[in-house]
Amino acid sequence: MSVVSGKENFDRIYNCQDPRPYFTTLRPLDYRIHRHAIPIFDRCAKLLSAHRNLRRIKMVDLCAGYGVNAALLRFRVTLDDLYTLYDAESTPPLHAGVSLEDWDRRFFASRLCGNGSIGPVVAIDKAERAVRYAESVGLVDYGASEDLEDGEPSTELRHRLLGANLVTITGGMGYIGPRTMGNILANVGPSILPWIIAFPLVGTPLGPFFRVFSDFGLRVEVWDDETFPQRRVANGEDRLHFVSGVCGHAPSPSMSPEYLQTRLLCARPADEADVLPLSDIV
Ligand SMILES: C[S@@+](CC[C@H](N)C(=O)[O-])C[C@H]1O[C@@H](n2cnc3c(N)ncnc32)[C@H](O)[C@@H]1O
Repeated sequence: MSVVSGKENFDRIYNCQDPRPYFTTLRPLDYRIHRHAIPIFDRCAKLLSAHRNLRRIKMVDLCAGYGVNAALLRFRVTLDDLYTLYDAESTPPLHAGVSLEDWDRRFFASRLCGNGSIGPVVAIDKAERAVRYAESVGLVDYGASEDLEDGEPSTELRHRLLGANLVTITGGMGYIGPRTMGNILANVGPSILPWIIAFPLVGTPLGPFFRVFSDFGLRVEVWDDETFPQRRVANGEDRLHFVSGVCGHAPSPSMSPEYLQTRLLCARPADEADVLPLSDIV
């Protein structure tokens, strides 16, 4: 079930052979949620590995697309590097026999950070070509092109979900419903549940998500002190979405009307939420 409505439609760029259409379309809109989300994901990974006494944590990136979150967390690249890399005009000259995919594989291999807190990354997205690209160039360890709104995870994905510690999501909460979250939580295994850190657009109905998190015994917190800009408003429909989205929420100083805004949503086991306050993460 998608709750995205009254908002620019980007379906055409989500499932392409390579990430160029995605980046060249979103760059003029200053798609920037990663600038705010990545430091938070990184702090969560460090806190989790220290608190759970793990050398590295296992991460599941939901609605992962071409693997941007994994790229920024595990490789020495910035969002600006990716925008430049995939800019149609600056894409490296490709010689006979070297595809963009081959070039990217070598590029990312040369920028891997070997010593972070993030271990294996599982990417889930219904866009088959996007997750295949992310896996093929080495950004993620396993890419699952599965729509968990439609059915249960495959046997392979179930196996990959076992023991996940952190579930991240940028730009995707409006496309999925509680069924996807339930399918993940039901398959992470008998041990301790993961943290779910998401950036839903202001106005995304969160009640159904709260119910599924509480069914699994997770405590949900939404950071009320600030919002995080996702991207520039693209058109009149977008603007309406923004205006209806902020109804009922006190606008914060960071809430520029030029940008669609998100909130930080965090669902965690209650005992960990008690000792690791949200203010240590933001
Ligand atoms: C705005 S993109 C975000 C991609 C990536 N997380 C990022 O921030 O760069 C939204 C993604 O949600 C994916 N998506 C839409 N519906 C989905 C579903 N039911 N299950 C999984 N992914 C879905 C799209 O294919 C697309 O890749």
